Amino acid sequence: MTRPVLEVKNLSTSFFTDDGEVKAVRDVSFELYPGETLGIVGESGCGKSVTAMSVLGLVQRPGKIINGQILFQDRDLIKVSSEEMRQIRGRDIAMIFQDPLSSLNPVLRVGFQIDEAMKAHDKVAREDIAARGVSLFQQVRVPDAPRRIKDYPHQFSGGMRQRAMIAMGLSNRPEILIADEPTTALDVTVQAQILELLRDLNQEMGTSIILITHNLGVIAGLCKRVVVMYAGEIVEEGPAEQIFEAPQHPYTWSLLRSLPRVDEKKHERLRSIEGLPPDLIAPPPGCEFNPRCPFRIEKCFTEDPELEVVAAGQQAACWVTMTKAYAEMGAATITDTRPGAASGVRPPADLLQVVADLRTLEEPAVLEKLAEDPDLLEKLAADPTALEQLAEEHPAVVETLTDE
Ligand SMILES: Nc1ncnc2c1ncn2[C@@H]1O[C@H](COP(=O)(O)OP(=O)(O)OP(=O)(O)O)[C@@H](O)[C@H]1O
Ligand code: SF4
Ligand SMILES: [Mg+2]
Repeated sequence: MTRPVLEVKNLSTSFFTDDGEVKAVRDVSFELYPGETLGIVGESGCGKSVTAMSVLGLVQRPGKIINGQILFQDRDLIKVSSEEMRQIRGRDIAMIFQDPLSSLNPVLRVGFQIDEAMKAHDKVAREDIAARGVSLFQQVRVPDAPRRIKDYPHQFSGGMRQRAMIAMGLSNRPEILIADEPTTALDVTVQAQILELLRDLNQEMGTSIILITHNLGVIAGLCKRVVVMYAGEIVEEGPAEQIFEAPQHPYTWSLLRSLPRVDEKKHERLRSIEGLPPDLIAPPPGCEFNPRCPFRIEKCFTEDPELEVVAAGQQAACWVTMTKAYAEMGAATITDTRPGAASGVRPPADLLQVVADLRTLEEPAVLEKLAEDPDLLEKLAADPTALEQLAEEHPAVVETLTDE
């Protein structure tokens, strides 16, 4: 089997802030194969950019890679010196960002900046640099390339600037090109042109591409494989066509449902996913998607599922999976997608709320309730805060509980 050009293994990256540890990327593993286009998709804040920054050694304090390996050309990029990493960046692994203006120097001609990118790494022979700049401009389909290459960044439209960035990214013939939301700032027509360009370049040059986006639609025409991230973790991955056809994680399913479709009536409202991604300092226990998931079951509130093979080449981290949700919960016809709607499972009542309710009762009633509910009794006995609060109203009850 072909060896991957990049292998990310159990990567975890956190930001140590005053409010606590933001677990931005948790135990993320994926491979990128030669000439492949891999999509990384997920809502804002799910850890896509931090994953890319980790690969490029660009995580800044208070951020830190706390675990994992990033294997590239027989080296672990987490362990190489910063000088070596500087060499790898731009030469072997190039990145293009959402906003090319912030990465282009406004006072220097675009062509000059592309030449400098080549001079920084001795991969392209000095005498070939000028001609290569123009030919790159032609390759990224900038019209009138020999003249336009002498322009300043502000003389370019958004789409042209993005092309210039791609030309710069490709100037040293990198093995990997990471494109982080390269089209979000552009209008729809230009977006499509840039994506088409990336696809052509991938086919012409065989550069492996990681395309990061929050929009699954962008992945469709370009990526062979997709990694879906939620709350810093990979929740599903597999061949793009398969994932579009039969997503197995309810989050992927929800993302697909909220995509605008050309075959639907124009004015139909998009069904976006209810609720927000969790706080990455204190994510909910169990599956992180449980507060928003229509298909959740009891287990989802306490146990976090691991990625498991769900079909050929496809993995998902879910206790239910969509196959079961279609078979048992009517996922095909579901219109109410609120949390728990399809399964009817509500979150377990918060223990402190239960205690607050018990405090309003008379002592015999409290004892009766506890006698009826051994589960509650056990949870109370294990929670000092809950016990303390109950003791304020019913000290005798708590005494009997703690004596047992
Ligand atoms: N410097 C930082 N300090 C603290 N937290 C950070 C920092 N940078 C990123 N994070 C947190 O890490 C998490 C992941 O961020 P990341 O930028 O990877 O998201 P993303 O998936 O790229 O989102 P978007 O689609 O908006 O670009 C977020 O919750 C973010 O708040
Ligand atoms: S069914 Fe459970 S495990 Fe699967 S996504 Fe929903 S909450 Fe998570
Ligand atoms: Mg990002």
